[in-house]
Amino acid sequence: MVESVTVRAPAKINLHLGVGPVRDDGFHPLCTVYQAISLYDDVTVSPAPTWIVELDDPDRFAGTVPCDDTNLAVVAGKALTAHHGVKEFARIEIHKGIPVAGGMAGGSADAAATLVALDRLWGLDTTDEDLLALAAELGSDVPFALIGGTAMGTGRGEVLEPVRAEADLWWTVVAHDFGLSTPAVYRHFDELAHDTSGLALPTELIEALHQGDRGGVLAALSNDLAVPAYSLREELAGWADRLEQITGGEVLLSGSGPTQLIGHTDADSARAASRALAEAGIEHATAHGPVAGAHVVSYG
Ligand code: C5P
Repeated sequence: MVESVTVRAPAKINLHLGVGPVRDDGFHPLCTVYQAISLYDDVTVSPAPTWIVELDDPDRFAGTVPCDDTNLAVVAGKALTAHHGVKEFARIEIHKGIPVAGGMAGGSADAAATLVALDRLWGLDTTDEDLLALAAELGSDVPFALIGGTAMGTGRGEVLEPVRAEADLWWTVVAHDFGLSTPAVYRHFDELAHDTSGLALPTELIEALHQGDRGGVLAALSNDLAVPAYSLREELAGWADRLEQITGGEVLLSGSGPTQLIGHTDADSARAASRALAEAGIEHATAHGPVAGAHVVSYG
């Protein structure tokens, strides 16, 4: 009998984030290219008399990650039990490796991991189609956390089409001790009339991914939310200058920010950047992508 299940789900970055004008439902239409990278949250579920959320380091996340029923992982659990008409509850233990409120979809990863873990714990055999539909209800980025890899996202980001990516990349990830609210960044996007790529297909990026042209991928990175995010958080521009000076790379904002990324075509370049940042006393992580979506790592 399975007593617990641990599922690992990846962070996402957007190699391209094209944003169109706000829709009537308040969401923005997107044309985005997601990539899952090797920073992970691990979620362990086990039967319990009621919904319980536990963080591995509660003090570190006090005030940023809720431990009650508002945590997206619990919302995911409730959606799955409602879908199957079962009356079960679970303890959900979350070990966070993805920066919080950083534009890397950590909360979405937890929700996706919870869906998969509870499905296995209770032997529900939810179809992939139903899991993706449940995920889409939970949030725009949740379906991608299920499938991972590299994928084109349209709709509000929840409609996915895998992209064949022959180029794997290395990423320097610089998280900040301040967060940015995703709705606030989208709202500011609406307030600023600025040039965007809109919903045009990022053909150069897709072509470079197909060809395994790593330099071409890095040259084609773009993010329409960078202008509003940098405008809301003035210190981000200074950070970008500093990171570019130290690493010699170009900074990409991750999703709605504030996490900043530097892409590398190979591990040596990522290592050199990491050494230079460490010498400058700047905390960072190194990751590579693409990696798999939410998957079971162990049964207890
Ligand atoms: O879908 P999710 O819950 O992650 O979205 C969080 C918020 O981000 C939404 O309430 C909305 O304000 C904004 N958003 C948006 N357009 C999208 C995705 C998110 O405006 N495509």
